[in-house]
Amino acid sequence: MPSALPIADPAPADGLLPASVTAGWGDRAFGVYVHVPFCRVRCGYCDFNTYTADEIRGVKQSDYAGQALAEIAQAAGVLAVTGAPSRAVSTVFFGGGTPTLLPVADLAALLAGIRSTWGLQPGAEVTTEANPDSVDERSLAELAEAGFTRISFGMQSAVPHVLATLERTHDPERIPLVVEWARAAGLQVSLDLIYGTPGESAADWQASLDLALAQHPDHISAYALIVEKGTKLARQISRGEVPAPDDDLAADLYEQADATLEAAGYHWYEVSNWATDASHRSRHNLAYWTGEDWWGVGPGAHSHVGGVRWWNVKHPAAYAERLAAGVSPAAGRETLDAETRSVETVLLGSRLADGLPVAALADPGRAAVAGLIADGLIDGRAAIAGRVVLTLRGRLLADAVVRRLLP
Ligand SMILES: C[S@@+](CC[C@H](N)C(=O)[O-])C[C@H]1O[C@@H](n2cnc3c(N)ncnc32)[C@H](O)[C@@H]1O
Ligand code: SF4
Repeated sequence: MPSALPIADPAPADGLLPASVTAGWGDRAFGVYVHVPFCRVRCGYCDFNTYTADEIRGVKQSDYAGQALAEIAQAAGVLAVTGAPSRAVSTVFFGGGTPTLLPVADLAALLAGIRSTWGLQPGAEVTTEANPDSVDERSLAELAEAGFTRISFGMQSAVPHVLATLERTHDPERIPLVVEWARAAGLQVSLDLIYGTPGESAADWQASLDLALAQHPDHISAYALIVEKGTKLARQISRGEVPAPDDDLAADLYEQADATLEAAGYHWYEVSNWATDASHRSRHNLAYWTGEDWWGVGPGAHSHVGGVRWWNVKHPAAYAERLAAGVSPAAGRETLDAETRSVETVLLGSRLADGLPVAALADPGRAAVAGLIADGLIDGRAAIAGRVVLTLRGRLLADAVVRRLLP
């Protein structure tokens, strides 16, 4: 089963937002996330809110774009009633699931709906995630023609036995092909990698990094494999069929990735993300990490506007029913108080290479800075200049650093 939603206040059926969200409205970027909750098969490690055709009988993928467009129309109505002036969208991100399981015409219609509803800023970043086996030369060219600017491929690994443990369906030999087609179409390219899969050696990981770098992507994400509760991988580990990932090995693999990527001209800008230069950072993800506004469209999608956060019902059938009835798909919401906001600023900001202003810390956090420098976890020179920036060792222990920075 996909992961659970947070517990909070019920959201109003009309989805209306308090007028307080308009404070500082013009100072914040506005992004749109579109969740596409379908996958051809479920990878054994994944607990994202996504469904295969078998799991979701009765819900037609072909109806989905229309439902998501209905939510976009509702969103525009809610924001207009709130009294906020319309803002052009700076970033759009289609994630999933596997957005590219939908026909390009559906993705294009959704993007056109966003454009006609709010407008896109000049130079807006428009990304879709894709499985390497869910695109071809033609579909990539059509995505670019429709206005997509960037594609993020779930490459994960170059090594067949690692891909098999992850239950990935694509052949690693397809990676160079899809990247070449995406580039020829004029799309920026990001590759997602996973490290720490049981049975993956340092040499396997190096092979994955090398194959990724040989494609000269603009951006690379590398995530440690997380064993999510309720997944097939978690069951395999608990039955002793697959060894559990080893944290020490994962730390070594992270260091190996950072050294390899840095030597190839990719610089970290968030703990799990590297780009060739600032213009290739994911502006959409940076907006999440720096507290901008975004509307999340689709089942289980999360939104944040002006300190109010909400999330939609998870199941595509429940989502479809709500929209058909003209009711907001939001399942719960919370208004972030000043304390929660400052905790989130520390939690997310400290993971960025640009760092977090020391001034954003409460007194106990500020008092912890000297000790964190002494322990080699944050950069002394950056701290003197007023920012908390993790060292390489600090990135490996980011959660522990955050605990010491929070009151
Ligand atoms: C929605 S997926 C990307 C698009 C597409 N569905 C795919 O997998 O190629 C987003 C990323 O999250 C990663 N991910 C999912 N579950 C994970 C886990 N348990 N540990 C680490 N990464 C995970 C995926 O491997 C993928 O790169
Ligand atoms: S293809 Fe992506 S979203 Fe779908 S199950 Fe696999 S990792 Fe999860």
